[in-house]
Amino acid sequence: MESNDKNPEESTTEEENIEGVPTVPIFIMGKRYDVPDSLTIQKAMEYAGYQLIRGCGCRGGICGACGTVYRFPDSPKIEVGLACQTLVKPNMYLTQIPFFPANRANYNIEDLQPTVDEIVRQYPEILKCMGCNTCTKSCTMDIEVMEYISAALRGDIEKAARLSFDCIMCGLCTARCPAEIGQYNIGILCRRLFSRHMMPKSEHLAKRTEEIKAGKFEKMLGELKRMDKETLIKVYEEREIEPDLSEEYWAPSDKSHL
Ligand code: SF4
Ligand code: SF4
Ligand code: FES
Repeated sequence: MESNDKNPEESTTEEENIEGVPTVPIFIMGKRYDVPDSLTIQKAMEYAGYQLIRGCGCRGGICGACGTVYRFPDSPKIEVGLACQTLVKPNMYLTQIPFFPANRANYNIEDLQPTVDEIVRQYPEILKCMGCNTCTKSCTMDIEVMEYISAALRGDIEKAARLSFDCIMCGLCTARCPAEIGQYNIGILCRRLFSRHMMPKSEHLAKRTEEIKAGKFEKMLGELKRMDKETLIKVYEEREIEPDLSEEYWAPSDKSHL
């Protein structure tokens, strides 16, 4: 739909389009569009004629590509949301921020120690955190962002890793941070430090990796590769299948390939 270029002060209430669908006025990068009131920002932009090449990925609230900033007239509050998850509201002034630059340290995780000194060495700006909580209030995933930054500053890497686990790297916390901290990159560093240097190693995984390296499964894989399609389908259909809701330990009766 084309913009009607109305004065923003005029007619900012709900109306209907030619199909009788209730519409609301929104302002995309300063230009007015009247869009159905049931749409997300993302669908409203497409309805308005925008082709989303950047700022659009999964459409399901997971990829973090569609960060959007908006504000209402006369409101002092800057609001943020994911365009694919946030419904339009009358008189939203919005723009997308598909990418927000943040300091990204260059390291080999094998060379790092899981300590607060290491985190500060990689991201010294973390020391400037003033505890304003703007990052938490901006988070599109309801993550306690300030809490994980505080945990990282205390050297509680496990807590920082666990609290930041759901981060989708939309960058909106970083866009709002007065201390210019790239929170999501610090979260990634903590998760890497935790998983590489602190989590207990899985013994059965290490054992299986050694078996694969030693070629234990080469013969079986070779047999499978040489089978014709019909034989392969028969073997697949006759395989032992783990029960869907098995609460007890289960293993196939033929253990020759384990
Ligand atoms: S927005 Fe920045 S300064 Fe404020 S609490 Fe979060 S990390 Fe600290
Ligand atoms: S922590 Fe920051 S980058 Fe991660 S989801 Fe929340 S707002 Fe987005
Ligand atoms: S398009 Fe992926 S989070 Fe919105």
